Amino acid sequence: MTTSTAPLPIQACSPAEAAREVAREIAALIRERRAAGRMAVLCLPTGRTPLGVYDELVRMQRDEGLDFANVTTFNLDEFLGLPPEHPQSFRRYMRERFFSRIGLEPAHTWIPSGDVAPAQIAAHCAEYEREIADAGGLDYALLGIGRNGHIGFNEPGSARDSRTREVRLHDVTRADAARAFGGLEFVPERAITMGVATILGARRVRVLAFGADKREILRRTLEDAPGPQVPATFLRGHSDVRLLADGVALGR
Ligand code: GLP
Repeated sequence: MTTSTAPLPIQACSPAEAAREVAREIAALIRERRAAGRMAVLCLPTGRTPLGVYDELVRMQRDEGLDFANVTTFNLDEFLGLPPEHPQSFRRYMRERFFSRIGLEPAHTWIPSGDVAPAQIAAHCAEYEREIADAGGLDYALLGIGRNGHIGFNEPGSARDSRTREVRLHDVTRADAARAFGGLEFVPERAITMGVATILGARRVRVLAFGADKREILRRTLEDAPGPQVPATFLRGHSDVRLLADGVALGR
């Protein structure tokens, strides 16, 4: 795939509307796959942005009988140096905010390991790519966007053809995480992230962005020449991508 200057399709909506729309799409995918006797393979993010989607999917299970038995999930990223029980680990975030609430089988939830031994990191990343491929590839990638334009932890400088790998976190990413960690000195310096090419391999990609904090980076994502300086620009040109953003983030 070549880098594209195609526009990013935009759906202007409130955070609540975006959560309902994305949850509806995911539910339809799960049901369609179940009817075909197949798993639905989701790529999931952390952060504040997707919480409404997780809440809505929990509600759909409770009120509409949405069944997650045929769902496999792959998370985008994890901080290195954190054990799974660390309050800021993405493993713990996912368990508390989503997986345990819907009773998802732990064997169906993949997240890069935050406490893999340094010598094993490269093999662990290659294994993550293999597991995604063995699952049949990602059906639906849900993404947030960092204030520096990162997707997952694909920080500025990440290549279009990057795969799951160890990365050094960008200063803006660490500063944004500092409050949750109780100080910048406690924020890990490194992480494992799915690569840009891994994410772009998803059959459908949905990006969420809300609030004034995301206005400037959305403007650049939509207008800059695609390139590694703003990794989210690589989403333009995907054959089935949509940005769901509120008016504040869109500067309207
Ligand atoms: C995090 C994650 C990203 C996420 C982004 C935005 O650090 N690695 O996957 O999309 O930063 O976070 P938030 O949704 O809290 O703005």
